[in-house]
Amino acid sequence: MITTSAIKAFGSIETPFYYYDIELLNKTLDEYTSLIGKYGYSAHYALKANADPRILSIIQKAGLGADCVSGNEVALAIKSGFSPDKVVYAGVGKSDKEIKTALKAGIFSFNCESVPEIKVINDLAAGMGKVARIALRINPDIDAHTHKYISTGLKENKFGISPWAFEDFAKLIEECKNVKLIGLHFHVGSQILDLGVFKTLCGRIAELQKWFTDRGFFIENLNLGGGLGVDYENPNENPIANFKEYFKVINENLVVAPGQHIHFEPGRALVGQCGHLISRVLYVKLGQKKKFAILDCGMNDLIRPALYQAHHAIENLTSEYKRKMRYDVVGPVCESSDQFGKNIILPQTQRGDLIAIHTAGAYGQVMGMRYNQRDLAKAYYSDEICQD
Ligand code: LLP
Repeated sequence: MITTSAIKAFGSIETPFYYYDIELLNKTLDEYTSLIGKYGYSAHYALKANADPRILSIIQKAGLGADCVSGNEVALAIKSGFSPDKVVYAGVGKSDKEIKTALKAGIFSFNCESVPEIKVINDLAAGMGKVARIALRINPDIDAHTHKYISTGLKENKFGISPWAFEDFAKLIEECKNVKLIGLHFHVGSQILDLGVFKTLCGRIAELQKWFTDRGFFIENLNLGGGLGVDYENPNENPIANFKEYFKVINENLVVAPGQHIHFEPGRALVGQCGHLISRVLYVKLGQKKKFAILDCGMNDLIRPALYQAHHAIENLTSEYKRKMRYDVVGPVCESSDQFGKNIILPQTQRGDLIAIHTAGAYGQVMGMRYNQRDLAKAYYSDEICQD
C-alpha cells in the first residue's frame, strides 16, 4: 500500500523510478526469518531477484546468505557483506574466471549441473591448492505449474542432472580429489502458488537422495531452492507471501536425516511486494476502439509483462475522477510488446497522473535495460522520502 505521504513526495521526483517500501521489506523478512529460525533451516537470498545496494544491505543484516548465478553476483554478495560461507553459486554455464572468483572467495557451495563443469572446477581448484565444496543440482522432473519460461524442473529444461546420469556423477566425484560433495540442490521454478508442487518435490527428494545414500554417500545438505510465488492480483490484500503454509508443507513432507541441514533460496517472495514502478502518464491517446494511457516507463524498466505476459496490478495514484474507464496501459518503447496491461479499469486518467505498477520489487529494476537509449530508472526508499 502506497501511503498519502509517499504520493506527496513523488510529486517532486522525476519519473519513472522504483519505489521501495522499506517497512514492508522488514516485516516480510521478520516473518520469514522467524519461521526459518523455528524450523532450523538456512536461507540464501537469490540476488538475481533484486540487487539494489540498499535492499541487499537490509537482507544481509537480517542474517541471510546469498544465492548467486554469476561471478559478478558472488563478488557483489561478498562486497555487500554476505559471509562467503553462506554463499551458494548455481548456473549451467560457469566460466573459468567466474569459478576462480568463487574459489578465491571460499564460498559454501558450487551447485553443479554437468560432468564437464565438475571436471573444470576440480582442475581449477587443484591449480589453486583448494578443495571446492559442491552440491549436485538434480532435475526432479516436476511440473511447477507456472509460466514455461520460469519452469526449471522438467526433464526438457536445461537445468539440473537427471537420474539416468547419477552413475557417471558418482564415479566422477570419487575420482576428483579437489571437489567434495556436500549436498543435493533442487529448484523447480518460480512464482509457484500451488503448494502441492512443494509437497511433490519433498517426495521426489526422498526417492532421489536414496540413490546416493544406498551407495554410501552422506548427503549433509539439502537445498530446496526458491520459487514461492506472491499475489500479483491483490498486492494490497496479500503483501506478505504465504510463508507459514509453505514451511508447514515442507516440514510435514520432507524426510530429514539426522545431521542433515535444509537450505532455501528465496528471491521473489522476499522482495516482490515491497517494490513499485512509479511513472507519469505522458498522453492519453484515442485509438479506433480503445484508449491508450501512454506512460513514461517502458518495457526497458519492467520487462515482465512483455517477456512472460505477466500481470501486474496498475493504480492511478492521483486521478481526481470517480468515473472509471478502460485503458490499454503502454510504454513509449518502439515495440508492440511494450505494454503493461490491456483493458485496465482506471479512474479517468489524464496527462501528468502518477501511475504505480505494483509487485515490481522482484525481477523489475534488476532486469532493466537501456534499449532505445533510455535511462535506467533510479530507486527511492520509503524511509528516506516519506515524512511519517
Ligand atoms: N534458486 C535458483 C536456482 C533459481 O534459478 C531461482 C530463480 C531462485 C532460486 C529464486 O527463485 P524465486 O524465489 O525468486 O522464485 N525473471 C523471472 C524469474 C526467473 C527466476 C529464475 N530463477 C520473472 O520475472 O518471473
